Amino acid sequence: MTDSFERLYSAAREAREKSYSPYSGKKVGAAILFENGEVTSGANVENSSFGATLCAERVAISTGAANGHRKIHEVVVVTDESPPWSPCGICRQTIAEFGSPETPIHLTNLSGEKITSSLAELLPLAFTPDKLNPSKP
Ligand code: THU
Repeated sequence: MTDSFERLYSAAREAREKSYSPYSGKKVGAAILFENGEVTSGANVENSSFGATLCAERVAISTGAANGHRKIHEVVVVTDESPPWSPCGICRQTIAEFGSPETPIHLTNLSGEKITSSLAELLPLAFTPDKLNPSKP
């Protein structure tokens, strides 16, 4: 277990507490470690127009991206579900925008279960920024 995992797990658990999920009742938290050492976190934010709901992962990633962080190093997602939930398709694509095939994605829950996967495993043959913009800053 890495130091960064513990830091991210605790940030994701704390973020999860602030979930706005009156419709599903499912609180999700996420924390992202960027290559520059910055950590951002987020929770799911639901909407009465269900399609407007934001997942925890995208809230956490967008917070980092909007603060200028560009390269994802590691991801932790936490729920109170067993087995732990994995990121939805849109969130996988969002991780692909800023991550790499090797980016570790830890699926966890409040009971301490942990499944470690990677972006390559969760999103094979990903559509990635280099297809459109080979010299992305
Ligand atoms: N949810 C996330 O926050 N992340 C995921 O990757 C899967 C689903 C949220 C969205 C919604 O608020 C609730 O979980 C049930 O789908």
